[in-house]
Amino acid sequence: KDHPHIVIAIDGPAASGKSSVARALARKLRYVYVNTGAMYRAVTWLAVDKGVPVVDAGRVQQLLHFTKVECGVEDGQSTILLDDVDPTPHLVDEAVNANVSAIATLPDVRRLLTEKQRAFAYDYDVVMEGRDIGSAVFPETPYKFYVDASPEIRALRRARQGLQDSIAARDKVDSSRRTSPLVIAEDAHVIDSSNLTVEGVVGEIFGRLKQKGLPL
Ligand code: DC
Repeated sequence: KDHPHIVIAIDGPAASGKSSVARALARKLRYVYVNTGAMYRAVTWLAVDKGVPVVDAGRVQQLLHFTKVECGVEDGQSTILLDDVDPTPHLVDEAVNANVSAIATLPDVRRLLTEKQRAFAYDYDVVMEGRDIGSAVFPETPYKFYVDASPEIRALRRARQGLQDSIAARDKVDSSRRTSPLVIAEDAHVIDSSNLTVEGVVGEIFGRLKQKGLPL
């Protein structure tokens, strides 16, 4: 076993509803909510802010090498600081939306963030949300969920968040990259959230966790 705590992995494409679900589930279970997309977004903001081209793997790697990346937990949620700066206000900037998929293809970035993600589970029981949590970050956890929704519903959900974001383009890059692409782990429980509320999806996951013997 490479982690001593409980890990509930929730993967899925952009705007599938997995963030709301993961946050609500974590609150219900009193586990720590870890948003790994925010970590990729944070690194993307750093590169954009420093004027480092996101397609230049060498320069991004160098930038990360000289930046202090600190992850922590506050109010039951993961936090990230880059050289003591909290990037949270910038995570859904248009420039970040447009460049995060490129950053997420870089193996050095994935290696660093995967390490940080695994470290959370040394200290906390976690609900961790992302693209590769069940397939690559914690392949041995028995608690894997893949939340999906129809393209129409996803477009609607993203539009309601008022964000300028080309979901389809992002999904394409996220699914076709070489390192840890968005895939459905073979032992993941797939949930189509198109016609479910957040509570509905949380309820389904909760039932499944109980079935699997997690003492809840
Ligand atoms: O969940 P999100 O839309 O905030 O994620 C932003 C981007 O980060 C997404 O387009 C792909 C990348 N990502 C990833 O590659 N692996 C993860 N575990 C989480 C996010």
